[in-house]
Amino acid sequence: MHDELKKKAGWAALKYVTSGTIIGVGTGSTISYFIDALASMKHEIIGAVSSSETSSARLQAYGIPVMDLNDVNILSLYVDGADEINKQLQMIKGGGAALTREKIIAAVSDCFVCVVDSSKQVDTLGRVPLPVEVIPMARAYVARQLIRLGGRPEYRQNVVTDNGNIILDVYHLNMSHPIQLEKSINALTGVVTVGLFAHRGADVALIGRAQGVQVITKTTQNSDNIIFYSDA
Ligand code: A5P
Repeated sequence: MHDELKKKAGWAALKYVTSGTIIGVGTGSTISYFIDALASMKHEIIGAVSSSETSSARLQAYGIPVMDLNDVNILSLYVDGADEINKQLQMIKGGGAALTREKIIAAVSDCFVCVVDSSKQVDTLGRVPLPVEVIPMARAYVARQLIRLGGRPEYRQNVVTDNGNIILDVYHLNMSHPIQLEKSINALTGVVTVGLFAHRGADVALIGRAQGVQVITKTTQNSDNIIFYSDA
């Protein structure tokens, strides 16, 4: 069931792809469906930048050129999944350990379209643990600091990120002020990236539901998000 909803959301993101551009592509099972969709118009795009070796391999298998982000000046669109998303379109990401490259591509992009199935929608972030990518020698130090912030970090066994680092999954953090928490964790020495995407959240969420794809568009900081159902 989740897979069907992920597929709907992944394919719905195709509407945001403009011919003649380079597309930012994230990581995960929902994004695999987006890559399948993107392949259907591969001759119309210049190529893609990707947030993981796994996504790069899938793109290349379809014959979609994968480019170095350093060679790309403008990235109008980034499509990626999330482990959780709230009403403000802030997210927890990093379940697939690709959070650092995801955050870099999100920072470069003009528009971040998040594709999820409805199980990922929450009122308050924090049902899933918060992934933090850490330089290996700083693991114990960062874990102690995360405990001081109120969290319970767990070392993700047998996982090395594409950047050669480790992941701590942090439970029980107070997520009532996500932007402040993101800043505090990013400021810890030895932390590469925290998987909290609050400061730069998504601009659009495409949420796969049994009855269709729900589209939530972030307008401005002070106005309500616009919610409607697309015909996808
Ligand atoms: C990868 O590190 C994550 O941020 C993914 O975007 C997230 O885990 C979503 O994955 P699924 O689409 O497989 O649920």
